[in-house]
Amino acid sequence: MSHTAGNNVVWITGASSGIGLALTKRYLSEGWRVFASARSQGGLSELLATNENVTFLPFDMTDVNQIDDVRAALSNHTAHLDCVVLNAGTCEYLDITATEPDWKMMDRVMSVNFFGLVNSVDVCLPLLKKSAKPHLVGVSSQAVQAAFPQAEAYGASKAAVRYFLSSLRMDLRQFNIDVTCLLPGFVDTPLTQKNTFSMPFLMSAEDAANRMYSALASRPFEFAFPKRLSAMLWAGRHFPKLWFTLLAPKKSHS
Ligand SMILES: NC(=O)c1ccc[n+]([C@@H]2O[C@H](COP(=O)([O-])OP(=O)(O)OC[C@H]3O[C@@H](n4cnc5c(N)ncnc54)[C@H](OP(=O)(O)O)[C@@H]3O)[C@@H](O)[C@H]2O)c1
Repeated sequence: MSHTAGNNVVWITGASSGIGLALTKRYLSEGWRVFASARSQGGLSELLATNENVTFLPFDMTDVNQIDDVRAALSNHTAHLDCVVLNAGTCEYLDITATEPDWKMMDRVMSVNFFGLVNSVDVCLPLLKKSAKPHLVGVSSQAVQAAFPQAEAYGASKAAVRYFLSSLRMDLRQFNIDVTCLLPGFVDTPLTQKNTFSMPFLMSAEDAANRMYSALASRPFEFAFPKRLSAMLWAGRHFPKLWFTLLAPKKSHS
């Protein structure tokens, strides 16, 4: 079964906006049956009204009480999942200059980006095991390739996702389930539209979704893009003092 063959079934989380919405459109255009999840329909509404190959299954992935219900809802529609793209996520930045820094943010961001992804694996694993050639895909970030200021919560959550998927890849080999970790660079979505810093090599959600879709055909362990950003972050990792000097905010507090 090829990545582009018809009648394949995919579950996409975070499908109501940004990269997930663009991925949903791309999979539909390639003839896939798509199950799309998020807490709300958001940008999916028009698609849901016009395309019978996409079904919305509401899921707040931070709520463990929803896991069995979402799995049952998926099972009502399909006997198997060929691919899952666990894409849903959030981003918040820590302001250490605040009188009382918002340390609870660590919990909020980990709940969505890490534990939410783990809960999503819990939902879909039984249905993936029923596919002839299953593929589990998770979305981390290029942010894990070098440290960024204020990214204590976001970067740590995405690093946790990357490690989790590397370990899971080993354990799922015995079930013939391939595992891919995607590491996108800066993508123009509601998540990044609030950023006030410059975002090198920013790309559209459609461009990102197309690159992801094409890369997933060969089921790589990891796919980081764009390569120009990977090169910049490689330099950051290998010249950490220079990276620190360039990115760390200058001293303004005693
Ligand atoms: N944009 C970038 O530059 C960039 C770069 C690297 C990695 N990423 C990653 O790519 C993924 C998609 O990001 P995006 O930029 O497309 O962001 P986005 O436009 O804000 O979309 C985030 C999606 O996640 C869903 N979501 C958030 N919290 C959820 C929850 N508790 N339960 C279920 N769904 C939830 C949202 O839907 P609801 O609010 O309706 O639930 C929405 O569909 C994220 O994992 C992000 O970290 C993005």
